[in-house]
Amino acid sequence: MEIQQAEFFVSNNDYSKCPKPAFPEYAFIGRSNVGKSSLINMLTGKKHLAKISGTPGKTQLINHFIINNSWYLVDLPGYGFARISKSIKLKWEKMISDYLQNRNNLVATFILLDSRLEPQKSDLDFITWFGEKELNFVLLFTKSDKISKNQLLTNLEKYKAVLLQYWDEPPVSIVTSSKTAAGKAQVLQLIEEFNTGWKNF
Ligand code: GTP
Ligand code: MG
Repeated sequence: MEIQQAEFFVSNNDYSKCPKPAFPEYAFIGRSNVGKSSLINMLTGKKHLAKISGTPGKTQLINHFIINNSWYLVDLPGYGFARISKSIKLKWEKMISDYLQNRNNLVATFILLDSRLEPQKSDLDFITWFGEKELNFVLLFTKSDKISKNQLLTNLEKYKAVLLQYWDEPPVSIVTSSKTAAGKAQVLQLIEEFNTGWKNF
């Protein structure tokens, strides 16, 4: 799929204020600094579309981007971010879990995992929560440009082993890099397939 148009649409602090659910929607979520905003920019080919920062906690709202006038990408704040007050953390968690559970047009959520790290408890808890709520998700391993191929394969195997304790089959997963654009074609292809499914629904 070619991205012809990608624009910021609106930011909200509550799912109920989000745009009319007229288009299929895909959310990007993961721990702070994992590379959610960078990946949105890489996929859309617009360097400055979503705000990026080396300081975790940059994204604080539910941010909608309209793509090709026919579907939404959503950038969400990171989870597991220690350096914010407990009350803000609880507010974000509620905002995100309400959004994920109530947004009717949310076709799939891309859960981002840092490919340099072994399975992290906060990520596994989050993936398990998706399973419990029966929400559709795809795993995206980020920053693959930052490790060796061997290390990458080792970490992927570890994730697979842990996830197979909960799932009969490992969840769909794609290795990505915002630097090299690895995974771009696969992610866009998947979204195109989901979009077709949405149209025929
Ligand atoms: P929050 O909004 O704070 O939750 O962070 P985020 O998940 O949106 O991460 P963001 O895209 O802001 O990226 C965090 C840092 O990682 C930035 O310094 C990016 O330049 C860097 N980064 C993100 N993706 C990649 C990647 O694929 N490769 C490399 N080398 N660096 C990356
Ligand atoms: Mg961000």
